[in-house]
Amino acid sequence: MSEQEKELGMPARAGRPAWQAVLSLAAFAALVGLVVGVAWDATRERIADNEARRVLAELSAVLPPALYDNEPHRDMILVSWPGDEQRQVWRARRDGRPVAAVLTSLAPDGYSGQIRLLVAVTTDGTILGVRVATHSETPGIGDAIEPRKSPWIGNFAGRSLTDPPEARWRLRKDGGDLDAISGATITSRAVVAATRRAVQYFRQHRDEIFAAPASGAANKPRD
Ligand SMILES: Cc1cc2nc3c(=O)[nH]c(=O)nc-3n(C[C@H](O)[C@H](O)[C@H](O)COP(=O)(O)O)c2cc1C
Repeated sequence: MSEQEKELGMPARAGRPAWQAVLSLAAFAALVGLVVGVAWDATRERIADNEARRVLAELSAVLPPALYDNEPHRDMILVSWPGDEQRQVWRARRDGRPVAAVLTSLAPDGYSGQIRLLVAVTTDGTILGVRVATHSETPGIGDAIEPRKSPWIGNFAGRSLTDPPEARWRLRKDGGDLDAISGATITSRAVVAATRRAVQYFRQHRDEIFAAPASGAANKPRD
């Protein structure tokens, strides 16, 4: 008790050894740590689950669920494209046999930068569908690559490297067989080329793609 406290007539404080205070603090900290840890674990599982559902919804836009009986959103591998970072590929199987893959393809040459595509291809090289996952093309012009803005992106379904022949896999105005979105030639050209590259990559690497063990990573489409 301090002199000042004595002068003021304050009652003496019940003395508590310092080690007891330290112990209580440590116990409290441990309890808080435990609660945070349990909450974090539960949240992480929920986030992973939501993410898996979101990926599946994204894949379902190009991959008809009737085709497969595995969980393609969990059957993902990372593949290396020449001179590029790793890209995700999801595999669809039926009775354990490969039926299709969804490849990520990047078009660096969009009008406003990179366009990221999902390209679903059956094992025989037929395109099931193409969807633009991310882009920054101009609203009202290049954004017609989105299916809710125009049906153009649907033109790839059913095509392959023999339809049109590979050499004609370009826009009509570039000497090919494919239509451009009117007023958005640059965007269309970028998407056509990125789709062609994805199918070419698949033709070249199909067997390795299906043989590789799943990455086990979060399987989230990257931006
Ligand atoms: C403000 C502005 C935004 C544009 N945005 C796009 C776009 O998103 N994608 C695209 O291909 N062209 C875009 N263009 C048009 C291109 O500059 C180019 O004219 C066009 O791709 C040529 O297509 P066309 O031959 O079908 O007219 C834009 C032009 C302007 C002025």
